[in-house]
Amino acid sequence: MIAAPWRRCRQLLLFGTWLRHRFDATWMGCFSTVACWAWFFGAAVLSRCEPGGATCTTPTMVQGADTFRRAYDLPAEAATAALARLLAPALQKGDVIALQGDLGAGKTSFARALINSLEGGPEEVPSPTFTLVQTYQRGALEIWHFDLYRLEDQEEAWELGLEEALAEGVSLIEWPDRLGSALPAERLDLTLHHSGEGRKAELVGRGSWAGRLAALQEELP
Ligand SMILES: Nc1ncnc2c1ncn2[C@@H]1O[C@H](COP(=O)(O)OP(=O)(O)OP(=O)(O)O)[C@@H](O)[C@H]1O
Ligand SMILES: [Mg+2]
Repeated sequence: MIAAPWRRCRQLLLFGTWLRHRFDATWMGCFSTVACWAWFFGAAVLSRCEPGGATCTTPTMVQGADTFRRAYDLPAEAATAALARLLAPALQKGDVIALQGDLGAGKTSFARALINSLEGGPEEVPSPTFTLVQTYQRGALEIWHFDLYRLEDQEEAWELGLEEALAEGVSLIEWPDRLGSALPAERLDLTLHHSGEGRKAELVGRGSWAGRLAALQEELP
């Protein structure tokens, strides 16, 4: 994005220098040189805060037509819950949230906070480690919370009700890689990593999630 303006700027800079020499420091040559330097430094400052720029201090955010990507520091479980609360109002029937991350990364914590941010009273949300799936009715949404760590065969997921979950409910899926090609392409990926005492998270919204997250971005931390 910044490459073209930089190229244009360099051309103008050279043109300004040429004018200054050609017209022996007339006002036109001086003015164009000053304008070019201002543009040059402006472009340098802007490129530092370009979304995704290496030195940008704001969370990384890269947007394409159908992908929204943003990274977060979640220093404590409360920050994970806050992110879940912000996303909850955007949930719709048929949604899939793929919760990625190592053992203990905070996937269930996020699911628990998300479920409890939806319409309805406080709900106990145990980890579905052994049951593999737990369902919750929250307002008009039926939430299917899967933990597929122990899934032995991709086919088993259908026996757990995956087809109904994808068509009629909202699916929160821990260890989504176990589904292989059955994992829908249109989904929200939340990947959590240990980082000191806290966690780092990356959200990647695909398909309609890209637009929904973009609409939410003013509110996202
Ligand atoms: N942002 C955070 N910072 C620090 N600790 C956190 C954060 N989020 C969750 N935790 C803590 O991490 C621990 C593990 O959380 P959780 O059970 O949600 O992980 P998990 O990814 O679901 O694990 P598993 O892979 O075993 O299902 C809990 O003690 C929880 O309080
Ligand atoms: Mg878990």
